Amino acid sequence: MKNTVSTLLQQKQSGDKITMLTAYDYTTAKIIDECGVNSILVGDSLGMVMLGYENTLPVTMEDMIHHTAAVARGVENAFVVADMPFMSYQVSVREAVINAGRLIKEGSANAVKLEGGAEVCEQIEAIVNASIPVVAHLGLTPQSVNAFGGFKVQGKTFEKARKLIDDALKIQQAGACAVVLEGIPAKLADIITKKLFIPTIGIGAGNGCDGQVLVYQDMLGLTTGHTAKFVKRFADLGDMMRKGINDYITETKNTAFPSEEHTYAIDDDIINKLLEDNE
Ligand code: KIV
Repeated sequence: MKNTVSTLLQQKQSGDKITMLTAYDYTTAKIIDECGVNSILVGDSLGMVMLGYENTLPVTMEDMIHHTAAVARGVENAFVVADMPFMSYQVSVREAVINAGRLIKEGSANAVKLEGGAEVCEQIEAIVNASIPVVAHLGLTPQSVNAFGGFKVQGKTFEKARKLIDDALKIQQAGACAVVLEGIPAKLADIITKKLFIPTIGIGAGNGCDGQVLVYQDMLGLTTGHTAKFVKRFADLGDMMRKGINDYITETKNTAFPSEEHTYAIDDDIINKLLEDNE
């Protein structure tokens, strides 16, 4: 059954935790969808994990549309959310609506996600008025990395925590259908989750949220180097890939691959005739 905004809302009401993972391509999205994950986020994290940028800021609308369309082609049931990239919604409400529309029309997303609180409520309202569901994103919002001075946990002082609660209520009032809470203390995420009727989806925000989201490369062990404290590795696909690739190199060099089982045969009579023909 296709997951929709109503499914996510019902899950919050019944206490059934929402599962969300990122995906950026057809094959991965198909596997994640077949596992029964409720929602797939085509995050602008693709700038880092797919395109090798240092942060999400260089990601373009074209990047997002290209990857969202590929994901959507692989999905049957998950609710597909596409990130609005940096500077695609901040400049004006009009641009925000046009760009959200492109992610739905050209990318086949079911909803868009944008970062920020009170300052983007006008955009949220206008996009929702165009019948496009909006997922908000509060806390450690990666597009604000320069303003934050790095990827740092947010909402640790009384004033900042109170502003996050206030922002959460405002984005809900503006019509957001869910909110991602990233990199904030678990107890603050609990308070926000209890205050909202829309679902909260946490990443580094504790298990009191209505659901969880992770970047799939992080949780499957495909990323190398430093990973955030909130990342749990559920598998080590990176090691499996390395082993498979090394075995391929060895077997190709020593001609163990391709063996007969991976080779097409032809009638010997035909080969003999061809050899005679060439003499
Ligand atoms: O871009 C992304 O993948 C995200 C998640 C980390 C929530 O926004």
